Amino acid sequence: MTTYIGTATSRVDGRDKVTGAARYAGEYGAPDLAHGSVVNSTIAKGRIRRIDAGEAMKVDGVITVLTHENRPPMADNDEAYKDDVAPGDGSPYRPLYDGSIKFNGQPVALVLAEDLETATYAASLVKVEYEEQPHITDFEKQLGKAKALPAPAKPRGDAAKAFAVSDIRHDAEYYVPVEHHNPMELFASTAVWRDGKLTVYDKTQGVQNVQRYLCGVFQARPDEIRVMSPFMGGGFGSGLRPQYQVVLAVLGARALKRSVRLVLTRQQMYMVGYRPAMVQRIQLGAKTDGALNAITHNATTITSQYEDFHRNETTWSGLLYKSETASYAHKLVRLDLPAACDMRAPSAATGVYALEAAMDELAVALQMDPLELRLKCYSDSDQHTGLPFSSKSLRECYSQAAEAFGWSRRNPEPRSMREGNDLIGWGMATGIWEALQVPITVRITLTANGHAEVACATSDIGTGTYTIMAQAAADMLGVPIDNVTVKLGDSTLPPSPVEGGSWIAASVSNGIVTTSNAIRDELLRLAETMPNSPLMGIKTADVTLSDGSVTVKKTPRSTVPIADIMRHAGVDRIAQEKATKFGKDGKHAHNTHSAIFAEVKVDEQLGVIRVTRLVSAVAAGRILNLKTARSQVMGGMIWGIGMALHEETLIDHRFGRIMNANIAEYHVPVNADVHSVEVIFVDEQDDIVNPMGIKGLGEIGIVGVPAAIANAVYHATGKRVRDLPITLDKLTRDA
Ligand code: MOS
Repeated sequence: MTTYIGTATSRVDGRDKVTGAARYAGEYGAPDLAHGSVVNSTIAKGRIRRIDAGEAMKVDGVITVLTHENRPPMADNDEAYKDDVAPGDGSPYRPLYDGSIKFNGQPVALVLAEDLETATYAASLVKVEYEEQPHITDFEKQLGKAKALPAPAKPRGDAAKAFAVSDIRHDAEYYVPVEHHNPMELFASTAVWRDGKLTVYDKTQGVQNVQRYLCGVFQARPDEIRVMSPFMGGGFGSGLRPQYQVVLAVLGARALKRSVRLVLTRQQMYMVGYRPAMVQRIQLGAKTDGALNAITHNATTITSQYEDFHRNETTWSGLLYKSETASYAHKLVRLDLPAACDMRAPSAATGVYALEAAMDELAVALQMDPLELRLKCYSDSDQHTGLPFSSKSLRECYSQAAEAFGWSRRNPEPRSMREGNDLIGWGMATGIWEALQVPITVRITLTANGHAEVACATSDIGTGTYTIMAQAAADMLGVPIDNVTVKLGDSTLPPSPVEGGSWIAASVSNGIVTTSNAIRDELLRLAETMPNSPLMGIKTADVTLSDGSVTVKKTPRSTVPIADIMRHAGVDRIAQEKATKFGKDGKHAHNTHSAIFAEVKVDEQLGVIRVTRLVSAVAAGRILNLKTARSQVMGGMIWGIGMALHEETLIDHRFGRIMNANIAEYHVPVNADVHSVEVIFVDEQDDIVNPMGIKGLGEIGIVGVPAAIANAVYHATGKRVRDLPITLDKLTRDA
C-alpha cells in the first residue's frame, strides 16, 4: 500500500530543474514576443499631472508606451479586482487604472519594445510630472492613529484584573519590521497571444485565482484566458495574490494584439506586498510556580491606505498555554505604502515570536527553566473553544529536540557559558501552525499499459507537490512512480485553490485517495462481467490496487491484472475526476507543532552573532516525503535566522521610498550564516484530521525560530533586544 509515501523520494522534477528543462514564467517565448519595462512613480502620494512619452517613443524598437490615459479598457468596479485572497475591507489596487498615486514605486507606465534592453532604456526616458501630496510612511508616528479592528478572539475572564494581582508580571513591547519575500524567481508574466486568446505563463501560487482575476479585470470569458504556472522559483506568500505585472502583460498583449513578456526587476520586487511591520505588547501574569493566570496580547500592524490587510497575530497563546484569563486586540495603521500581504507563516512567525520571547522573559523572572515553564503551562485543549486537538505531540517535540540539543547541560545564568571571545547562548521556543485543508478536485487517468496521469490545477511552489502527488498516486494505484505523470499549474485542470497556508499536501493527497477509490470502483465494475473472476461479488473496500493488479485484501492470491480487466471491457483507459471536501468535525482543533532549540555564539567585543546550532522537532501528522519535508522545514528555520538577525526593509520617510530595495542591502542569511541545522520529525498518527492523517509542513519551519534565537542571544549576553532584527549595534548599545 505505501511503497512511496513516507520515504525520502527524490523530487520527480529534480532533473528538469537542474538541467534547465523546467521553464519558468519569464522563460516562455513566442514568435511575436514584445518586451515590457515598467516606469514606477517617484512620489508616494498625489496625482500624475502629465506623462510625456515622446522621447521614449523616438527610440528605435519601441512599439508603444501605455499609461492610464491610453490603455485598453479595464473593469471599473472593486468586485472585478477581488481575487480569492483579497482582504475583505477596502479597494484592491488597480494597476495603470488612473492618475492617482498611492505609493512610491507604483507602476505609472509600461514601455513595450522589440527587445528588453530597448524597453528598459526607453522607460528611463519617460517623463512624469506629479501633483504631490504629503505622505505618511512612518509607522511609529502613526501609532496613536491606529484603527481598532474587531477583537481577534473572545476574551477569557478579566485579564487586566488578573494581571494586576499576579505574583510575577512581565509586560513588554516587541517589534517586527517590514520584511520582503525575496524569492529567487522575479515576478514574471509571458502573455502569449493567439487569435485573440491568451495563454498567460505567470509566476503565481494559484493559476485559477489569477485566471478568474484577469477575466474580471478585463471582462473576458473564461475560455479567452488560460493561466499556466508549471514551476515557481519561490513564492512564500508573495504569489498568493495576482501581482501587477500579470495585469500589465495582459494589458500590453491586448493593446498590441501580440505576445508580451514582462519581468519585474529585483528592485521592483520590493514595490509590492510585504510582511507588515508590527508592534506587539504582551503582558503575562503568573503564580510563583509558573502557572499563567493572565495573558494580554495586543498587536498593531500596518497596511496601505486603500486595502486593509491583516492577519491574526495575537491568539496563538490560546492554543499553547493554559491561562484562566486572556485578552486580545489588534489595531491597524494605514500608510502610503502598497498593501501588506501574506509571508511565510503569516501571523505565526510574528505573533509567536513575541509570545515566545515574552515566555522566556517570564521564565527569567520566575527563575525557572524556560522548557519547564512551557510544560507547566502546556494546554491539552484549544483555550478559545475548549476543544481538544486531533493530535498534539508537542511534549514529544520538546523532549526529542531537547535531548538532541543537549539542553540539560545548560547553565541558566546569562553570560555563564563562553568559548574564547565568544559568549555562548542557548535558547528555546515553541512553534505552532494550523493544519488546514481545502476543497480540491483531482482527475486520474489510468491506462491499460499501467501508466497513470494525475491532474489538478494546484501549484508546486517549490515545496515538492509534483513529487508527493506522484508518490500518493503510485501507492494508491499500485504502479511504479516512474509510470506516474503529474499535471498541475494549468487553469484548465480540475479545480484547486491557491497553494498556501500549508494546506495543499493534505488536500491533494486526500484528493488522490478519493479519485483512486473511484478508479478502483470502476475497475471492479468492469471486472464484474469477466467470467470466473475472483473479484466477483467482492466489495470495493475489500480490494487494493498493487503491482498493476486488483487484489483481494483477505486472499492476496485472488488477483486480476488491471490490463486484463481493461482488455476484457474493451477500453484502453479509465478516467475519473472527483472532488474532495473536508468537513471539520467541530470537536477538534487541528494544529501542527514544533520545538526549537538554538545555540548562538556572540563575539563579546563586536557583538557579532552566529547561530551555530538549530534543532527543530516537528509534529505534523504523517510525513509524506522525508526528503522534501526536511528541505521545507530547514528552509523555514534558515528564514528564522534571517528574521531574527538580518531582515528589515528600510523606508526613507522623506520620500516614502524603500531604501534597501535590493539583496545587497536587504540582508538574508547566506551560507556563511548557516551552520548546523537539524530537523527531527516526531511520529504522530492522526486519524481525525483527514483520512491520510496529513497536517502539512509549509509554514511550521519558521515559527518559533526567531524567538529561540532571540532567547539564546539574551542567554549569551544578558541583554534583551526585543526589536528585530537583532543587529550588533542594538546589542552593543548601552541600555
Ligand atoms: Mo504561504 S504565506 O500561505 O504562501
